[in-house]
Amino acid sequence: MAYSVPPLPYPYDALEPHIDKATMEFHYDKHHQAYVDKANAALEGTEWADMPVEEVLKNLDSLPADKKMAVKNNAGGHYNHSLFWESMSGDGGGAPEGELNQFGSGWSWLVRDGSGLAVVGSANQDNPVSQGSVPLLGVDVWEHAYYLKYQNRRPDYIDAWWNVVLWSKVAERFAAAG
Ligand SMILES: [Fe+2]
Repeated sequence: MAYSVPPLPYPYDALEPHIDKATMEFHYDKHHQAYVDKANAALEGTEWADMPVEEVLKNLDSLPADKKMAVKNNAGGHYNHSLFWESMSGDGGGAPEGELNQFGSGWSWLVRDGSGLAVVGSANQDNPVSQGSVPLLGVDVWEHAYYLKYQNRRPDYIDAWWNVVLWSKVAERFAAAG
């Protein structure tokens, strides 16, 4: 079955003032949908089309060479954004905090790996699941995630983003990863 954008678990304006409604509309309606459409186009008619997106990303090396980049970027974009929407809430925020840095378009992640917890960056739409880690929390630091409200002030966006992190979801993912 082809991928589809999962329902947003709150209204577009639920994360105001930290993440503004216009950014959410654009990010969710346009960007996430585009990743889904391109991932579906890349996988259509292949044995991978019915596979859960996480399984596809864990097995990128098995993909045909001519599909690999499109799938990595777009199935990755679908997976990353699905995790991202679920990781935020208008009732989020609070402790703990952390240090997440990623330069250029990409994501910063809190992951569970073999040795415990780690903070890692990923370029583009790569996801640490492709390296065998379990993503617990990710912040989208592509310009499209903040430019409308914060322009080039990425640090201000990240500071504000901590106010909407849904830590109960992070804890749930951590427990499931054990
Ligand atoms: Fe994004």
